[in-house]
Amino acid sequence: MSQHAVRFQHLDRDTMSPPTFAVRQAGAADIPVLAQHRAAMFRDMGKLPSSLEEPLEQATASFLREAMPRGEYLAWVAEDHETPPSTIGGAGVQLRPILPRPRDGADGLELGPEAIVLNVYVEPAWRRRGVADALMRAALQTLTERGIRRIVLHASADGRRLYERLGFMPTNEMRLDPR
Ligand SMILES: CC(C)(COP(=O)(O)OP(=O)(O)OC[C@H]1O[C@@H](n2cnc3c(N)ncnc32)[C@H](O)[C@@H]1OP(=O)(O)O)[C@@H](O)C(=O)NCCC(=O)NCCS
Repeated sequence: MSQHAVRFQHLDRDTMSPPTFAVRQAGAADIPVLAQHRAAMFRDMGKLPSSLEEPLEQATASFLREAMPRGEYLAWVAEDHETPPSTIGGAGVQLRPILPRPRDGADGLELGPEAIVLNVYVEPAWRRRGVADALMRAALQTLTERGIRRIVLHASADGRRLYERLGFMPTNEMRLDPR
C-alpha cells in the first residue's frame, strides 16, 4: 500500500458510530486545497484582508510545489465519505533544520529537523466533531515514526485547547514586530 493510501479511521467520540470522515496523507494533487485552507485559516482568525486572500493562496501553492516533493512539507487532509469525497480539513508540518541543541528535559542532543505544525483548518460545517484532532494525531504519528521529537506551533484562540489536550505547552518564545 502506498503511503498516500494509508487512511486513519476514527469512531465518533460520543456515539462510537462508524466514522463520517477519514484522514490521509496529502500529495501534490491536494496543493490547491491546502493553499485555500491557508487563506481560509488566516481569514477565520481575522488576520487576512480579503485583498490578500488570492495572493496568499497563490504564494502558498507555489511554496508547496517546491517543498512537498523535497519532503520539507508534509500534509494531511480529512475527507468526507461522499462519492467523490470532498476535502473538509487539513493540517501540515514543515520540517526545518535547526542548530544542534541540548534536548529539553532529556539526555542527548537534538539534531533536528524541527517540525512546525501549520495550516490546521477545518471547514466550519465540520467543526467540533474531532476532525482537527484526527488530523493532528495522524501528523504526530508520522513524526513519532520518523523520530522527530521537536514539534512546535503557534496556536490560534480556536486551536489552543485542542493542542493542549494533545500535550503541547506554552514556551518561552518571544517575537519582535519591527515597526
Ligand atoms: C481550530 C480548528 C482547526 C479546530 O477544528 P475542529 O475540527 O473543530 O477541532 P476538534 O473537533 O478536534 O476539537 C474542537 C472542539 O470540539 C470538541 N469535539 C470533538 N469531537 C466532538 C464530538 N464528537 N462532539 C462534540 N464535541 C466534540 C473538542 O473536544 C473540542 O472542544 P474544546 O475546544 O472545547 O476543547 C477549527 O476551529 C478551525 O479551522 N478554526 C479556524 C482556523 C484556525 O484557528 N486554525 C488553527 C490554527 S493554529
